[in-house]
Amino acid sequence: MKAVYYFENGGPEVMQYGDLPDPEVGPKTVLIAVEWVSIEGGDLLNRLVTPPPETPFVPGYQAAGTVLAVGSEVTRFKEGDKVIGFDWHGSHAELFAVPEHYTYPVPEGLDMRQAATIPVPFGTAHDSLFQFGQMQPGEFVLVQGAAGGVGLAAVQLASQAGAVVIGTASSRKRLERIVPFGLHHGIDYRTEDIAARCKEITGGKGIDLILDLAGGQGKNALIGAIRPHGRYAVIGAATGSLPSFGFFELIRKAMHVYGISFGREMHTERAHALLADIARRMVEGNLQMPIDAEFDLSDAVAAHRHVAEGHPFGRVLMKVGR
Ligand SMILES: NC(=O)c1ccc[n+]([C@@H]2O[C@H](COP(=O)([O-])OP(=O)(O)OC[C@H]3O[C@@H](n4cnc5c(N)ncnc54)[C@H](OP(=O)(O)O)[C@@H]3O)[C@@H](O)[C@H]2O)c1
Repeated sequence: MKAVYYFENGGPEVMQYGDLPDPEVGPKTVLIAVEWVSIEGGDLLNRLVTPPPETPFVPGYQAAGTVLAVGSEVTRFKEGDKVIGFDWHGSHAELFAVPEHYTYPVPEGLDMRQAATIPVPFGTAHDSLFQFGQMQPGEFVLVQGAAGGVGLAAVQLASQAGAVVIGTASSRKRLERIVPFGLHHGIDYRTEDIAARCKEITGGKGIDLILDLAGGQGKNALIGAIRPHGRYAVIGAATGSLPSFGFFELIRKAMHVYGISFGREMHTERAHALLADIARRMVEGNLQMPIDAEFDLSDAVAAHRHVAEGHPFGRVLMKVGR
């Protein structure tokens, strides 16, 4: 099969495109002929910081396509089914072999591009807000990194559940594009004081729930914005830098800090039901993921570079055709 792979961590340029052996189909495996790869924030972070456990290493969490073959113990899928697959690596290829418990059906009427974007962004946003964030209608929710994949999913889910949604992005123009998705207040993180603006928006109360997708030094401003006893979801580090929390920092605001790892949930029946519900809401037109750009798989270096440097709005996809 054609695939994208690398041997060591680094920038987009470490990735090569060429021929690798087809993946093996174990008894519980679903083999997907990939049509669309969704480039996830984690794909970039892994390439930068996580030493590949095996080489050549095929990166990528998520892709949608058609089932080509199933293992002898697979019961829920058959050849020809339209599916979305997740795994900890391997989506940047013509063939993606995933466990059955990481395979999700694409319902009738759902565009395959949209399908490819569902599990990680929408599942992560949902769990950060509701499953572990206990968001209530009327609460102030701040999404740091609102124009990215997880951010746009979070804005839609929080807004539709009755929150007052505040989001940050790198320009006023980007913030305006998020308004139709349910954003109530936008903050340009490059030019505005996040804590001061949040104080003003919340009438001095502070933010109830923060979703941090950026990490980095921005964390300090977010701590300035949160209310006493507020909740802070540690989700990602799109800045590429991992901040830490000071002992006294947590005590001063009596903060609840919780980590999110949606990958740990994705095999569960709960996650399968949740993602089926998200897919249904997409078919009904109530949720969507903007597609910023489409590249061929052979252009993975340019595609990753665009995600890293081009400030895409929503997701960047790679098209795969055998
Ligand atoms: N824990 C989990 O289970 C989980 C699941 C999914 C993703 N993640 C992580 O979450 C992060 C976001 O993922 P994603 O897929 O949404 O990534 P993405 O689509 O690449 O979006 C990242 C966003 O971060 C914003 N950003 C960058 N620097 C910023 C800064 N200094 N201050 C505020 N915002 C900034 C960018 O906004 P601008 O373009 O406007 O600058 C961009 O929209 C990644 O680090 C990913 O690894 C974690």
